[in-house]
Amino acid sequence: MKYFVYLLSLTALLSTGFIAADTEQPLLNKAQLGQQLFFDTRLSANRSESCASCHAPQAGFADPRNNAAQGAVSLGDDGHSLGDRNAPTASYAMFSPDFQLTDEGVYKGGQFHDGRAKDLQEQAGGPPTNPIEMGMPSTAALMARLQEMPLYRKNFTALYGADIFAQPDQAYKAMTDSIAAFERTEEFAPFDSKYDRFLRGEYQLSPEEELGRTLFFSQQFTNCNQCHQLKASPRAKGETFSNYEYHNIGVPVNSVARAVNGVSPEYIDRGLLDNPAVSDPAQAGKFKVPTLRNVAVTGPYMHNGVFKDLRTVVLFYNKYNSRSRARQINPETGETWQAPEVDQNISLKELESGPALTDQRIDALVAFMKTLTDKRYEALLN
Ligand code: HEC
Ligand code: HEC
Repeated sequence: MKYFVYLLSLTALLSTGFIAADTEQPLLNKAQLGQQLFFDTRLSANRSESCASCHAPQAGFADPRNNAAQGAVSLGDDGHSLGDRNAPTASYAMFSPDFQLTDEGVYKGGQFHDGRAKDLQEQAGGPPTNPIEMGMPSTAALMARLQEMPLYRKNFTALYGADIFAQPDQAYKAMTDSIAAFERTEEFAPFDSKYDRFLRGEYQLSPEEELGRTLFFSQQFTNCNQCHQLKASPRAKGETFSNYEYHNIGVPVNSVARAVNGVSPEYIDRGLLDNPAVSDPAQAGKFKVPTLRNVAVTGPYMHNGVFKDLRTVVLFYNKYNSRSRARQINPETGETWQAPEVDQNISLKELESGPALTDQRIDALVAFMKTLTDKRYEALLN
């Protein structure tokens, strides 16, 4: 709540400041400037979208808007373009390490589902000039627009140098630097979910949540923590529920999105292999392991939003482990699970290492994932 009050007052302060001269503008730090930019629709061609349109702070910093693709992918500023990937939460994104190939030969970290941005700053440079997202014709056009604002004139020059606007590319970098600074604030990572409160001894998990926690962290009962655990100890503070590595878990094409977004149903999203820094065909079909923080309030799921329900995701994993006929059915379509979009490089070693799960255990895993919801979103769970 505090966050929203702060945000409202800052917005009010800034909008009244808008009419005043440069000298009367408030002096902001980088994160505050980044906050102003994150919510500013001037970053999009028709002034209809800000970062927050697709990463709404009231909705787990994901895109809560419905559309012709049933919200699986996002609508752009032009009012008709739809993307081909689901907007991930920007919460806890700061913990993904810089994109890298480790000494063990494993790709890790970065931003976007395919890690093509090294870090948050590089990521923030993508959407404004992406034609199907914010649609600005050029970085220079956006910088000219920002310069119209006394608030930006004052604070860009105060933070990045008097002649920062002389070079639009430098000014654009300054903009992304500020946005990244905002995304590294506590607002994006309050660590105050039931799970965090449980770790601090302030909340007692229900028997079902506790069962889910045990299952999640035990490789005897599930395989989840082989990919969705960062820290060595399952009780470590600051767990983000991703090791930031890349896997192909066999997610199918989202044909509902493809039917309306103009992308051919034959097109193959190769994930990590579509990252310009990667050319090894063994990476095709792999996507970054997403954080499970706030996952219960940021559906639909997977890089293309193909699953609506969290329970479906757990059932999807269990198709690899269960021989029961019923477990081969996707409850959202009533049909057998569709074939993977990329049928190679599937992490079968990890995926097939889990046992079949009873309904009770599936529900418990869902209940556990709900405990990863930050306090301010708990009301959205019902
Ligand atoms: C039109 C919707 C849209 C807008 C506007 C938008 N994003 Fe995104 N965002 C997405 C989608 C979709 C992805 C995933 C794209 C991909 O992986 O190829 C994404 C990915 C991200 C990620 C990566 C998270 C992760 O875990 O990899 C961050 C951080 C992010 N956006 C922040 C921003 C910021 C900052 C802005 C404003 C400058 C912004 N977004 C504007 C839709 C949007
Ligand atoms: C082999 C590594 C691996 C294992 C094991 C694994 N996951 Fe995942 N998980 C991923 C990857 C990679 C994705 C994203 C795939 C994509 O978008 O195509 C993902 C996506 C998800 C999502 C969707 C998140 C979102 O925001 O869209 C949930 C929920 C999830 N996993 C939960 C689990 C649970 C619960 C288990 C254990 C039953 C588990 N995972 C086991 C790698 C793994």
